Amino acid sequence: MAMTYDEALAKLKEQGQEHLLTFWEQLDDEQREGLLAQIEEIDFVDVERMRAALEQHKDGVAASLGAFEPAPVIKLAETGDPDVRELGLTALRAGKVGVLLVAGGQGSRLGYDGPKGCYEIGPITNAPLFEIHARKILALEKTYNTEVPFYIMTSEANDAPTREFFKANGCFGLSPDRVIFFTQGMWPGLMPEGNLLLDGPNHVFVSPDGHGGILAALRCRGVLQDMNDRGLCTLFYFQVDNPLIEIADPDFIGLHLANEAEITLKVCAKRDPQEGLGMVVTRDGHSEVIEYSDLTDEQKEERMPDGQLRLLYGSVAIHIFTLGFLQREADQALPLHVAHKKVPYCDETGRIVKPDSPNAYKFEKFIFDVLPDAERALNVEFAREEEFSPVKNAEGDDSPATTKRDMIAKWARWFEACGVSVPRDADGTPTVLIEIDPCYALNAEGLKAKLPPDFKIDGDVLLRE
Ligand code: UTP
Repeated sequence: MAMTYDEALAKLKEQGQEHLLTFWEQLDDEQREGLLAQIEEIDFVDVERMRAALEQHKDGVAASLGAFEPAPVIKLAETGDPDVRELGLTALRAGKVGVLLVAGGQGSRLGYDGPKGCYEIGPITNAPLFEIHARKILALEKTYNTEVPFYIMTSEANDAPTREFFKANGCFGLSPDRVIFFTQGMWPGLMPEGNLLLDGPNHVFVSPDGHGGILAALRCRGVLQDMNDRGLCTLFYFQVDNPLIEIADPDFIGLHLANEAEITLKVCAKRDPQEGLGMVVTRDGHSEVIEYSDLTDEQKEERMPDGQLRLLYGSVAIHIFTLGFLQREADQALPLHVAHKKVPYCDETGRIVKPDSPNAYKFEKFIFDVLPDAERALNVEFAREEEFSPVKNAEGDDSPATTKRDMIAKWARWFEACGVSVPRDADGTPTVLIEIDPCYALNAEGLKAKLPPDFKIDGDVLLRE
């Protein structure tokens, strides 16, 4: 039975939050029901942690990071060990590898109305991000004659449209029983004095609890059990906005397995000292990612005697986890990260106010905070231009324009590796559009195997299976 008004009032009074019921008398039955369900959901143990995190945040980043060292990093390009690759291939062929996509974010910087995965990015076909990811998984299944379950984390805000999008597109060729959606948790925000806020007379403001919310969601939604039931051991984790991603690439999986790591991260060199990547470090013998915003300018800019940045390598949220590690971490209360944001709210008269400046605090968990708990963590350097070009902003760096440019540049390199010349301008930028469906070729080798011997580029090139 759902919570009653009296129970809700008692719960809120205990916490001094009864203002959430200010508009009760004006609500209809359905609205009341929704509000009571929300109040029932609020976990005041979490809220207490948020308040503590907020106090710390208000005190500034004073808390010293203490002593830490740049983490050791191995290079993906230099490994090239066929035995290592074989380990990855064997795991894939044996159906022990699953793919975990976090797609519960709100994409506020991009300003796109809908799940970010529906954003169209294919330079010629306008293929949406979800299609590109799904077709890569389908290509893996076909290439290695295997099954690769695709787990997609959504949030309350985008779950229904995400599921509908996959359904309407026939799961892009994937078997629907291997496309598994699950929702992450939602958290309330706080006003500066520590109060929860309403964003409508009948609605408490909540937002997704961060990509780190995946740990709790995997457990609560029965996904860990599902992974176990399907015999998975290794989970490849990535973010929705990066179409250059090499999903579950066998070399990377092989390295993770050969090193018996619990978590493996792909890391790349910062573009410039101020780039907002979290840096991989070790502290007290544990691996860690230190958020960009927690570092001083001095730490960001510090150089080694050879001129290289001391903190050079950043995480781009491409990880591999062992299932055992995720199971062990599932109950972990990850630290809270605080963000001061513009949050529309309902004032005491019931009017919705859209603030011009940050007025409230949101709280998120970050997945990389599991790192210190790993018995063995591995950092693998990769070439950014090959694998990472996210769509974060509407314009400028990391925007659709730069992502499409980088997709075309990558495919152009594939063609050249196959001996096909690509028309380029004086700056070396390809002057034609290129798009290759992952099911046509997943890499340059795959392309070489498919291209007719006399293939030439004399205009835009679209290769589809
Ligand atoms: P970002 O931090 O880039 O956030 O998420 P975003 O929501 O896409 O965009 P902004 O910050 O609002 O502009 C990185 C990845 O983590 C996922 C996103 O969907 C994206 O794949 N994510 C983020 C979640 O799944 N849940 C969250 O609560 C936050």
